Amino acid sequence: MRRTGSLLTLALLLASAAPAADTEAPILENPRLKAEAELYRQYCSACHGVSGRGDGIVAPFLDPRPIDLTLIKQNFEGRFPKYLVTMSVEGRDTVRAHGKSDMPVWGEVFAAELLPDDPDRQARARGKVMKIVDYVESIQR
Ligand code: HEC
Repeated sequence: MRRTGSLLTLALLLASAAPAADTEAPILENPRLKAEAELYRQYCSACHGVSGRGDGIVAPFLDPRPIDLTLIKQNFEGRFPKYLVTMSVEGRDTVRAHGKSDMPVWGEVFAAELLPDDPDRQARARGKVMKIVDYVESIQR
């Protein structure tokens, strides 16, 4: 977790500053998934890019680089592995949860945003991850 703290802060600051300086056309116009797209923009675009192609404004400073999220389906022989992606983004009980990557553990980030005594905390955090994964699925090439 070397530079993760400061980079995450930077990422979130940049993400909230509109609009990101991507060269790709924004893909946030999908009318069916407006709320999902907004969550993506807020939490993911600083690193993975507004386009999802791994070209976010913070990407050049990360090693390894953020992946191209629009190629997941192609890399899985034409079938988007929804469960796997959800688990990987949520990041609990995986290698990711124990550092080494600059990718935040979103299950924990989203749970931390909720009240600690909220009994539905885990489920609601998972729901947020699932919405974002729906969006990621919608931008597959
Ligand atoms: C601070 C930068 C950063 C942010 C913000 C970020 N990611 Fe990532 N992400 C990365 C990096 C770096 C990698 C590649 C290294 C790795 O897999 O950990 C990655 C990898 C991934 C992977 C592949 C994981 C795997 O197991 O191979 C997925 C899927 C992903 N990100 C989705 C997302 C989603 C969805 C969001 C928003 C909720 C997001 N990322 C936000 C930096 C970020």
